[in-house]
Amino acid sequence: MFLKSRATQLLTALLLTSAASAQAQDAVPYMDPKLPVEERVKDLLSRMSLEDKVGQMTQAERGNIKNLDDIGFYGFGSILSGGGSVPGDNSPEGWANMIDAFQRKALEAPLKIPMLYGIDAVHGHNNVYGATIFPHNIGLGATRDPELVKKIGAATAAEVYATGIRWTFSPCVCIARDERWGRTYESFGEDPEIATMMTSVIEGYQGDLGKPGTILATAKHYVGDGGTALDSSNTGNYSLDQGDTRISEEELRKIHLPPYKAAIEKGVGSIMASFSSFNGVKLHGHKYLLTDVLKNELGFKGFVISDWAGIDQISPDPAKNVREAINAGVDMVMEPNNYVRFTDTLTAEIKAGNIPMSRIDDAVSRILTQKFKLGLFENPFTDRSYFNQFGSQEHRDLARQAVRESLVLLKNEQVLPLKKDTARILVAGSNADDIGNQSGGWTMTWQGRSGDIIPGTTILQGIKSTVSASSKVDYVKWPEADEAKGYDLGIVVVGERPYAEGQGDKMDLSLGDGDRRAIQNVCAAMKCVVVVVSGRPQILTDDLPKMNALVAAWLPGSEGQGVADVLFGDFNFTGKLPISWPRNMDQLPINVGDKTYDPLFAYGFGLKY
Ligand code: GLC
Repeated sequence: MFLKSRATQLLTALLLTSAASAQAQDAVPYMDPKLPVEERVKDLLSRMSLEDKVGQMTQAERGNIKNLDDIGFYGFGSILSGGGSVPGDNSPEGWANMIDAFQRKALEAPLKIPMLYGIDAVHGHNNVYGATIFPHNIGLGATRDPELVKKIGAATAAEVYATGIRWTFSPCVCIARDERWGRTYESFGEDPEIATMMTSVIEGYQGDLGKPGTILATAKHYVGDGGTALDSSNTGNYSLDQGDTRISEEELRKIHLPPYKAAIEKGVGSIMASFSSFNGVKLHGHKYLLTDVLKNELGFKGFVISDWAGIDQISPDPAKNVREAINAGVDMVMEPNNYVRFTDTLTAEIKAGNIPMSRIDDAVSRILTQKFKLGLFENPFTDRSYFNQFGSQEHRDLARQAVRESLVLLKNEQVLPLKKDTARILVAGSNADDIGNQSGGWTMTWQGRSGDIIPGTTILQGIKSTVSASSKVDYVKWPEADEAKGYDLGIVVVGERPYAEGQGDKMDLSLGDGDRRAIQNVCAAMKCVVVVVSGRPQILTDDLPKMNALVAAWLPGSEGQGVADVLFGDFNFTGKLPISWPRNMDQLPINVGDKTYDPLFAYGFGLKY
């Protein structure tokens, strides 16, 4: 269906195109940056065929594009990289070459509408080797510092922009209400006050949109993704991710909606629909929430992007899914698997009168508006002068500051700050010397992984570079009792290994046996500080009495040096818990404001020197 009519259209355009008409095209109103965006959109829309419009509503995944000519043939509005979907040359230049090649194909189409490339740059440009990796959102929530987070947005935007990408699927403004959820670390915290203040990151990403170094932001996942009921998802037993949020509309509006209002006030260009459901109705097909509330009541003028094949979860019928998602208010469909089927189905549904053309024109206008605001028509290719900003020392210093401000001091029996001239220090624990673990998921790959995966400093390296030359620092991951003798101080860095999304759903948040043994053996033999590197609180109540000090470090990213900066007193603790720290698993879900509220450490708690 799409194929035939598209081929005819392109052939006609080809025959008509001559040097003169190409020149004439540049003079058409929509190509004139001096005209108001609304006029440019109106003019371009009037020139678009149905196939052009369907193409703009399609986002293909780079790895699934078998023939680059498809980019111009289908006229994709966007191409994305899923987590870890990277070019062979995973450097800024490798990305710029790949994306510019895609763009040249997009501009071969008669109307020359540039393609907008999107990626999950959620804690720095985390798919690209050598990028500055910032703390994940849960740690940024602990900083309560929106100005810092805005700077992080701008730094991330510069690194993303350097690779030719102009759109990030960030920030996640989810409100994590149950830390058994694998996406808790993508949340700024359990109370909407933090995510609302941290929408400042959108101002960092988008800046004066269209100026060099600016990218489009995405508030996600709309709405209620962090409030799903246990065992309500279709991803298996004991799961929360992509589940059903079974609360009143009043509670949805009180807890989960506020950050979207703030994001819209800050001009967010796109919003991503959630995989989850609201009282049994998939958000991807929820007209009341996607259109009546988000677009009409809240006045969202950007475009709604679906999540990864998210429309396929509506029902087993592809035609019904396309029809329901677009009519509900989805404007662009993230279609990583089968863009041929999607474009065919959408075209057929429109021609059958099941989707009004007014809805299609609204969706395409929203998409084009952001592309014009981004300046994409004037500057469709990579600005390679930004290469020098990628992984810059300035950005790493900013990330190190964020690590410092994210640390939360939970216990201190006069052992912190540590003395830099301590003679013999034993460092232990699974997360002391593992930059992969301290970065967490969405780092180099979708799930992330342990090991020396990116440049930066581990917590151990930070400790070694902070102590005096006379100090001796040994590292034993899980020392036995006889290996923990003869030291003046122990620093045990424990916590989680990387994970993402539903693969992180977990019904037991206890520390691992090796880490518990390390705490036991080190803290029995010397003064000890325990540092927890994790995407969420860990159950450690039984081991707490053994610890002289306890610090929550969340997922600090590439600049582990920031931990030692505070442990050894160059900076004070300023962090506060963005999430309640439970005594045991039976307390979950536990959130500030609950009628019975007795966590080990309360939301907002944090000590100082
Ligand atoms: C994932 C996530 C979403 C991400 C998208 C593209 O499944 O749910 O947060 O932006 O797919 O990678």
